[in-house]
Amino acid sequence: MDFPAKLKRLVDRVERGLDLHLPPAATRPARLHEAMRYSLQAGGKRLRPVLVLAVHELLAGQNAKAQGPGAKSTPADPLAAAVAIECLHTYSLIHDDLPCMDNDDLRRGRPTAHRQFDEATALLAGDALLTHAFALLAEAYADRPVLAHALVRELADAAGSRRLIGGQMADVLAEKHATATADDLEFIHRNKTAAMIEAALVMGGLAAEAGPAPLATLRRLGQHLGLAFQIVDDVLDATADTATLGKTAGKDAQAGKVTFVKLHGLAESRRLAQVHSDAARAALADLPGDPAFLGALIESMAARNK
Ligand code: IPE
Ligand code: IPE
Ligand code: MG
Ligand code: MG
Ligand code: MG
Repeated sequence: MDFPAKLKRLVDRVERGLDLHLPPAATRPARLHEAMRYSLQAGGKRLRPVLVLAVHELLAGQNAKAQGPGAKSTPADPLAAAVAIECLHTYSLIHDDLPCMDNDDLRRGRPTAHRQFDEATALLAGDALLTHAFALLAEAYADRPVLAHALVRELADAAGSRRLIGGQMADVLAEKHATATADDLEFIHRNKTAAMIEAALVMGGLAAEAGPAPLATLRRLGQHLGLAFQIVDDVLDATADTATLGKTAGKDAQAGKVTFVKLHGLAESRRLAQVHSDAARAALADLPGDPAFLGALIESMAARNK
């Protein structure tokens, strides 16, 4: 398996999907639609949509084999689900960067949305991307209502007050609190970050019509990968430079954030990231099909420099 070539193929597919499934920039009011595209089309690793596509490819292939030639149902196209989760993720970044949240000037190597436009436009572009994610799922899977329902539910749960937003709230509440515990930190990371990574994997599985056992495995995998991912994000904030990261380095310590680095130190954080990354890779053994690409993707996220 040529990992970089396959990753590029999937990322290119995501980029084309984003262009296809977003309202044109000239849509009235143009400033809003420009801002949506500005943040969304600034690059980014595209981890979540790539996970949707990669899991779908892995499991839909297996289901087709199991059904044999002449099978009635063709698996759904997962691209709209991949675009939906990237819209939702990008909204969460736009709002995360706002002055009332992390107050960041740089994102994906460009000025943040509120710096490039203004605060109201950034807020509204985030709102619009959030809503667009669900509109897209409803529209793209209208002829598969059971799948549409399952995807909407999965994404809504992951993005809601118990998970992504709950994690963001806990993150803000813990800021500058000397009493925040390792348990608080784990709550923050499991929810503000791991929830969406878990949802990406499960949405790929749902689009491939995976059964309860592979879906449960994907969920477990996502929890470990998500934790590893946010621990590495904390490590990079403390160790990488702004130009490489494409976002301001050193912000967490400056803002008094509760992070793995703050509570556990750099060496232990790196070790814990590896433990969770290894657990994510081990979960792959419980899925059918060739796990080489997902294994390499998990490894590349643990070793990333941005
Ligand atoms: C940033 O996510 C926010 C976190 C959950 C750590 P990513 O590191 O996936 O950001 P992009 O999408 O590549 O810009
Ligand atoms: C994750 O936390 C943010 C979201 C869930 C949107 P951070 O605040 O650490 O993310 P970065 O470092 O700004 O990308
Ligand atoms: Mg934050
Ligand atoms: Mg932030
Ligand atoms: Mg961070």
